[in-house]
Amino acid sequence: MENLISLVNKIQRACTALGDHGDESALPTLWDSLPAIAVVGGQSSGKSSVLESIVGKDFLPRGSGIVTRRPLVLQLHRVEENREWAEFMHLPRKRITDFAAVRKEIADETDRETGRSKAISSVPIHLSIYSPNVVNLTLIDLPGLTKVAIDGQPESIVQDIENMVRSFIEKPNCIILAISPANQDLATSDAIKISREVDPKGERTFGVLTKVDLMDKGTDAVDILEGKSYKLQYPWVGVVNRSQADINKNVDMIVARRKEREFWSSSPEYKHLAHRMGSEFLAKMMSKHLETVIKSRIPGLQSLINKTIVELESELSRLGKPVATDAGGKLYMIMEICRGFDQIFKEHLDGVRPGGDR
Ligand code: GDP
Ligand code: NA
Ligand code: MG
Repeated sequence: MENLISLVNKIQRACTALGDHGDESALPTLWDSLPAIAVVGGQSSGKSSVLESIVGKDFLPRGSGIVTRRPLVLQLHRVEENREWAEFMHLPRKRITDFAAVRKEIADETDRETGRSKAISSVPIHLSIYSPNVVNLTLIDLPGLTKVAIDGQPESIVQDIENMVRSFIEKPNCIILAISPANQDLATSDAIKISREVDPKGERTFGVLTKVDLMDKGTDAVDILEGKSYKLQYPWVGVVNRSQADINKNVDMIVARRKEREFWSSSPEYKHLAHRMGSEFLAKMMSKHLETVIKSRIPGLQSLINKTIVELESELSRLGKPVATDAGGKLYMIMEICRGFDQIFKEHLDGVRPGGDR
């Protein structure tokens, strides 16, 4: 199964690398059919922090105010070797091992697109992280929903962000990680509001409650975490990310995770839920879910892939000497990946079909 997720990752990357050229083939449809997980919520609800905890690395710009101003498509690739590195699509073949440099590049690349203003852009930044410590996942970090424009932002920014977020999460293949902070009333949660709009039955929405450590004394999140306040198809997961003070003190991820585990297991009110709380649990649950979704989509994806192969073949023959041109080379690469995909699907289907001939 590990194989399937990383193949989906490869196709997603290849489709994006192809850029405009892809418009002429079935690739955009293919891309839209591949599952991905988008993180949505209000500004400073803890979206970027949740992503970092899932990855187990410090690499995202975080903080108060509007920090995330472009979508970040983050692909996690599990590797066997004991090395970790990052690669940006806009910096091909450049392996970055210093994750502080990754954060800086995200900030710089955001500014390159938007200028140094607080403007937003819907053009995604694509980042891949290779590590033995991650699960295979594609995650999308999105700008936070907000209610008012600040610092000379255009009045339209509130609506612009909402539209951008909606354009990602309205796709039926999008799995929504809806982030709500525990120190605010759930009834006012931007994440719940917008995810309910695009997924009224909660069939692809996962509720994540952040800042459980910041709740007022005498209140707790047990009703929410037990699904009694707002019911979703999937159980709520509570997380405790690093506070701003932790970030300022450079508290590292290992320490933060340990403190988080302690928080859940040592709080009398949450002890009974500790086995299904926290960032590590969330990461495993999402990877498992992604596998299930991909498995269930295999037949549909397979026919789409076959259609893509046929279209790519005719596109390639139209281009003439394929590998000579850049676009041709990319098309060729995608076709090869699609063929690999098709092969794995076939093997998988043969393997699960009772009485299959393997
Ligand atoms: P985003 O705007 O939704 O991406 O939110 P960030 O991840 O940038 O977090 C906003 C601020 O809230 C940062 O200062 C974080 O340190 C802080 N924060 C996020 N999650 C938690 C949490 O679970 N507990 C505490 N104490 N602080 C948190
Ligand atoms: Na923020
Ligand atoms: Mg953010």
